[in-house]
Amino acid sequence: MITSLALLSLLSSFFVLSASAATADQWRGRSIYQIITDRYALPEGADPTACNTADQTWCGGTWNTIRSNLDYIQNAGFTAIWISPVNQNYIGPRTAYGDPYHGYWMADVSQLNAKFGTADDLKALSDELHRRGMYLMVDIVVNNVMSTTQSLNLSSYFFQMQNEYHPYCPVDYSNLTSEQNCWLGDTKVYLPDVNTQDATVVDAYGTWIQQLVQTFNIDGLRLDAAKHVNADFWPGFCGKAGVFCMGEVYDGDVPSAAAWQGPQALDSILNYPLYTALIAGFTIPGPGNMSGLAEVVAQSKELFHDTGVLGNFLENQDVPRWHNQSVDPQSMYNAMTFAFMSDGIPIVYYGQEQGFSGGSDPYNREPLWPSNYANSTGYQLVTTLNQLRNFLVNGTTGWLTSPVQVLTTSPNGISIMKGNVVSVLTNIGSPPANTSVAVYTPWDNSLATIDILTCRQWAVGSNGTVEVQYTKGGVPVILVPDSQLDGSGLCGHATTLQAKSTTSLSSGAADLGIQRPTAITTSILFVILSLGLFMFNV
Ligand SMILES: *[C@@H]1O[C@H](CO)[C@@H](O)[C@H](O)[C@H]1NC(C)=O
Ligand SMILES: *[C@@H]1O[C@H](CO)[C@@H](O)[C@H](O)[C@H]1NC(C)=O
Ligand SMILES: *[C@@H]1O[C@H](CO)[C@@H](O)[C@H](O)[C@H]1NC(C)=O
Ligand SMILES: *[C@@H]1O[C@H](CO)[C@@H](O)[C@H](O)[C@H]1NC(C)=O
Ligand SMILES: *[C@@H]1O[C@H](CO)[C@@H](O)[C@H](O)[C@H]1NC(C)=O
Ligand SMILES: *[C@@H]1O[C@H](CO)[C@@H](O)[C@H](O)[C@H]1NC(C)=O
Ligand SMILES: *[C@@H]1O[C@H](CO)[C@@H](O)[C@H](O)[C@H]1NC(C)=O
Ligand SMILES: *[C@@H]1O[C@H](CO)[C@@H](O)[C@H](O)[C@H]1NC(C)=O
Repeated sequence: MITSLALLSLLSSFFVLSASAATADQWRGRSIYQIITDRYALPEGADPTACNTADQTWCGGTWNTIRSNLDYIQNAGFTAIWISPVNQNYIGPRTAYGDPYHGYWMADVSQLNAKFGTADDLKALSDELHRRGMYLMVDIVVNNVMSTTQSLNLSSYFFQMQNEYHPYCPVDYSNLTSEQNCWLGDTKVYLPDVNTQDATVVDAYGTWIQQLVQTFNIDGLRLDAAKHVNADFWPGFCGKAGVFCMGEVYDGDVPSAAAWQGPQALDSILNYPLYTALIAGFTIPGPGNMSGLAEVVAQSKELFHDTGVLGNFLENQDVPRWHNQSVDPQSMYNAMTFAFMSDGIPIVYYGQEQGFSGGSDPYNREPLWPSNYANSTGYQLVTTLNQLRNFLVNGTTGWLTSPVQVLTTSPNGISIMKGNVVSVLTNIGSPPANTSVAVYTPWDNSLATIDILTCRQWAVGSNGTVEVQYTKGGVPVILVPDSQLDGSGLCGHATTLQAKSTTSLSSGAADLGIQRPTAITTSILFVILSLGLFMFNV
């Protein structure tokens, strides 16, 4: 295990040492590390070679082993974890899809899953996270239970009345009622649909979640299969929980996904539209659709209730690892930088920082321990991104809530600006290329900026252009005015021990006479770009 207290001292000064029910606004500045409990860490003495993802069975991780290995997560700068479901699952013979090591095969939500520990263990994990100033997000499954047969053994479930379930029908994805009331899963593993329109069910779920959140001091919920539940169930349920709710809405289309965020539905959803656009923009080989990414950003700002609390991710337990879709490491580094430096809460799925490359379920649920929790290139990039973002969140004012702007797009690159931070990203990949890109920024040409990923000074040219050359390959670049990094601990700047530094990005910008890009300057940029004056010339 990596043990470094360097960042800890910085972070602990930022955090209050107790946590209570956290709201969307309290989550906005957080950064989440997603964990499948069974796969994160082994107890001491266990055989590290015994876990085979293809076997689809338990490998031995528990809430206790997460707790004993939190340094790895906190040293990388994460301020929250999301853990796989904690409630009791199907107990019975191995199925066609193995055993419920992932925790999603719900039986009795009123009990904890003994495979992962006791109530005291879960409490101890929650306490330890709060002691470190971190948040706990728990994955919750209310849409369905699991059964190997179509006729239910009702005595094994929390809800024991037949009318508390919708009758069996396979899901027809072209029919919304069917998506919400029919059974997910298939005929080998059924996922019987709980009747969340039934008043008894609504009440019982409400009482249950309130108790679960309070008992374990949970700070936020990730809601499985949220779009398979009637949307009007959620406000009441999350109201009872009293914490931030982020729903799984597996839909890459902005208009349909956006309908799930807001007072009529959920605080937040996992950002599948951004995921889809990042895949289309950055994977190598891939369609390289950078204009599509810019479109998704624009459409999201228009249609989502609040892009700042969406969950930005590149991987999770349901999609193939990034490196399974795109081997070139720079493709992930650029996409990851976008996810951190744009609007939204960044989420890193365990193993992503180690460059894991498993395919679809179950291969994307690798044990983490074979990585030896190495301080790898990916781990270091994540650490730097978190360090910068945590500083921007708490050491400055205005960054977190200023909406991201797209400065420029071309077939091989995109540049975004959030607050006073400009990220220049490309999909050309690792091989050095005799290519450069000029980005027009609203910065003054006397401004000294620095690329925080290499700590190189970056001059701003006439008319606010900054030029990025890819002679060392297509690496991401994050430019921040040098003077505004005081207190960040980055690139030779001291670490401040105060939660709020006097430096403020927005007031700093005003002092320097810099204007935020407005709709007008942005559209001028697009005109300039379309004239080809500042094209990436690949
Ligand atoms: C039904 O579930 C209960 C509780 O889990 C269990 O004790 C019982 O054996 C099950 N019955 C059948 C027929 O599987
Ligand atoms: C949609 O699905 C529901 C639930 O299965 C069904 O009752 C209804 O007839 C379907 N509607 C259409 C138009 O197929
Ligand atoms: C790029 O993405 C946009 C938005 O998703 C889409 O409309 C367009 O068809 C895509 N273009 C290509 C070449 O795939
Ligand atoms: C993608 O995943 C599958 C299954 O894990 C694996 O066989 C394949 O080698 C992976 N591909 C890459 C490029 O990593
Ligand atoms: C990882 O390596 C980098 C570069 O050598 C170093 O600065 C950093 O402190 C290391 N992180 C940990 C947690 O050891
Ligand atoms: C920012 O400061 C607040 C208040 O001290 C704290 O609760 C929060 O965890 C900090 N966030 C980050 C990302 O450092
Ligand atoms: C790089 O491109 C420039 C301009 O197109 C050209 O003058 C130069 O010779 C190229 N250098 C290499 C090493 O290819
Ligand atoms: C500088 O930018 C302005 C506004 O975008 C543009 O009109 C002008 O042509 C640019 N000048 C140069 C020398 O690029």
